[in-house]
Amino acid sequence: MAANGERTFIAIKPDGVQRGLVGEIIKRFEVKGFKLVGMRMIHASVDHLKQHYADLKDRPFFADLVSYMNSGPVVAMVWEGKNAVKTGRVMLGETDPAKSNPGTIRGDFCIDVGRNIIHGSDSVDSANQEIALWFKPEELVSYTSCAHSWIY
Ligand code: RTP
Ligand code: MG
Repeated sequence: MAANGERTFIAIKPDGVQRGLVGEIIKRFEVKGFKLVGMRMIHASVDHLKQHYADLKDRPFFADLVSYMNSGPVVAMVWEGKNAVKTGRVMLGETDPAKSNPGTIRGDFCIDVGRNIIHGSDSVDSANQEIALWFKPEELVSYTSCAHSWIY
């Protein structure tokens, strides 16, 4: 895949949806220059969320995390672009909003680690696994953005 074609999985968590932050969050990725290639709203099942966060299954907060993520719909998205995974994480801020700089999504819009409004893949490998878990291949689109040559 071309360097500009790196993909990351981003999900607006139930609190981000309930607090009316969907548009604001999408806007940040759009204005940055990333390309939206997949999006759907879903109230994910407990089983699905346990799979999504499987690497955290032994952590003390796992049950609370799954129940938080299952408390309402999420907006699942795939964003594409150069260094989308790493840059996406920088845009999110730290896991704990209290440690997130102003200007980041968590730094600007939330307070508590258990209500940190957004998920982002932490590596290219986990992005690929998460994209496969949340989307069927035919749900992802391929197109050339008219802004491409103005961004790269
Ligand atoms: P995410 O996967 O949701 O993007 O978050 P992350 O990589 O920044 O952090 P991770 O370690 O993967 O944790 C996943 C989510 O679990 C909740 N959490 N709670 N109570 C706690 O100490 C604690 N630690 C993590 C957060 O919602 C975190 O985003
Ligand atoms: Mg994580």
